Amino acid sequence: MSALELKGRRVVVTGGRGFLGRFVTCAFAERGADVVALGRADHDLTEQSEIRTMYAKLRPSIVVHLAAACGGIGANVANPGRFLYENALMGLAVLEEGRRAGIDRLVLVSTTCAYPQDAPLPLHEETLWDGPPTGATGPYGMAKRLLHEACATYAKQYGFESAVLIPANLYGPEDHFDLEAGHVIPALIRRYVEAAERGAPSVVNWGTGRPTREFLHVRDAARAIVLAAERLGDPAPINLGTGVETSIADLATLVAGAAGYRGRLEWDTTKPDGQPRRFLDVSRARERLGFTAAVPLAEGLAETVAWYRQHRPR
Ligand SMILES: NC(=O)c1ccc[n+]([C@@H]2O[C@H](COP(=O)([O-])OP(=O)(O)OC[C@H]3O[C@@H](n4cnc5c(N)ncnc54)[C@H](OP(=O)(O)O)[C@@H]3O)[C@@H](O)[C@H]2O)c1
Repeated sequence: MSALELKGRRVVVTGGRGFLGRFVTCAFAERGADVVALGRADHDLTEQSEIRTMYAKLRPSIVVHLAAACGGIGANVANPGRFLYENALMGLAVLEEGRRAGIDRLVLVSTTCAYPQDAPLPLHEETLWDGPPTGATGPYGMAKRLLHEACATYAKQYGFESAVLIPANLYGPEDHFDLEAGHVIPALIRRYVEAAERGAPSVVNWGTGRPTREFLHVRDAARAIVLAAERLGDPAPINLGTGVETSIADLATLVAGAAGYRGRLEWDTTKPDGQPRRFLDVSRARERLGFTAAVPLAEGLAETVAWYRQHRPR
């Protein structure tokens, strides 16, 4: 397997107008690639014929598959069947039609929801198949896990080159700040920016604040995806993250500080906490991709708060 020169190479980014997709598209453009960002209005990837048309029209060398039916916990609870069906279908068809079209490489972006709920910490790629992905995000995680296996079987049968990346929770400018999106960082930013403006004496958050999560700046994730497209043709999954475990209470304190909120942080412990801890072993990304995250959480949060203040709907 050889490194691919990106300059002048046709790269198609599915989901290229989404949150991560915009950063990935920019990162490829910065490397001189001939990059095309696709949204659903260009091609509905749940229609295999649309995927075939896309390959015939655009003739990509590399495809980065980001398009997904995804969302916060509420969206996952409401759509277990659709999320499983659409994510499995889109991924399998993008892979199969890409193989038939003779593309050089596919980069599949997966999710930590593919891990078994009780996998040992830090989450290591070798434990992905040690149990089922469960809970509200289980069907979404299962569809992505099937795609890992699809990439592995295509490597075995056809010698097809792919990379499978598993990013931690992403955050950064241009994230989805609508309440339905339900991601923790945008929700906290919205809450504390509004509380700072109202001069609210206290803000109540759900749960105990004790659960931990890991957060990766979207620009770091985009850089890792470009590295994978360039250097990796092997579908062994690779975690992408900082390896740093952050409690929700510490996160809330950082967001409140970045938002200039001076009141009290309170916790409604009658509300559920979700999974107690979640963070990644990131050694494989360092060894195989030469990737280490560069954006410190406090810095990335300050940037995201500033972006939100400038761009929120009035
Ligand atoms: N955000 C995170 O924290 C995170 C963490 C780990 C992994 N990921 C993965 O990263 C990828 C991108 O996530 P994101 O946060 O950037 O999500 P996003 O902003 O919702 O982007 C997903 C994109 O997929 C496109 N899409 C959905 N259904 C489609 C269809 N039927 N045909 C064509 N395009 C379709 C949408 O295009 P339109 O906008 O045109 O509808 C949307 O822009 C996903 O694969 C996700 O699983 C995200």
